Amino acid sequence: MTTFKWHATTPLTEAGAENFWDLRYQHAVTPWDRGQTSPALLGWLADRTLKPCRILLPGCGRGYEVVELARCGFDVVALDISAAAIQFVQNELNVHGLEAELIQSDLFDWMPDRPFTAVYEQTCLCALLPEQWAAYTHRLVEWIQPEGDLFALFMQTGKANGPPFHCDIGRMQQLFAPPTWRWPTGPLPRIDHPAGVFEFGAVLKRC
Ligand SMILES: C[S@@+](CC[C@H](N)C(=O)[O-])C[C@H]1O[C@@H](n2cnc3c(N)ncnc32)[C@H](O)[C@@H]1O
Repeated sequence: MTTFKWHATTPLTEAGAENFWDLRYQHAVTPWDRGQTSPALLGWLADRTLKPCRILLPGCGRGYEVVELARCGFDVVALDISAAAIQFVQNELNVHGLEAELIQSDLFDWMPDRPFTAVYEQTCLCALLPEQWAAYTHRLVEWIQPEGDLFALFMQTGKANGPPFHCDIGRMQQLFAPPTWRWPTGPLPRIDHPAGVFEFGAVLKRC
């Protein structure tokens, strides 16, 4: 395997996104990858905040959460721009004898035939250029049925550059604003990441 350095490559651009992400999976330069299912998802499953339904995972990466949700009986659709990531998820599903619909596509080029009860958004937003965020939230409104839920993990890096881009919660509240979105009351749970950053978890209602 050739040496590949995260910061020594061309920056992320809208046109070059597929290559940018696929190269990272091909060369296993994936510092965002926990190597296991996020504790946030396990918590939402354990306390039944998230119950079996038709669910979409955009930017699923290596898809530990795809496998876990399929194992728990969800009707899972997962999408990623990286063919290498999607291949990894397919292999894991095969190993465990599980099924999910996997799609290799730029999320901006894809539309389902019907909306989902829920979307699990684990640090996909922070992987997009901030100028794409409004368009992404429009996609989420189209993808989630009314009264459906967005299970979001908003990356907190405290840095100006990215990816991953810092998802300031005030900015998120402007992006996911009423009357289309309803936020939970109370402080958001903090989910620590082994890479030294953390995420805020939030279950938003798509009104
Ligand atoms: C920070 S990683 C998170 C991956 C996974 N959810 C996780 O937590 O390990 C962001 C993911 O979004 C994918 N991605 C980035 N831009 C995308 C786009 N425009 N369409 C679909 N997937 C995209 C990347 O390939 C990558 O797998």
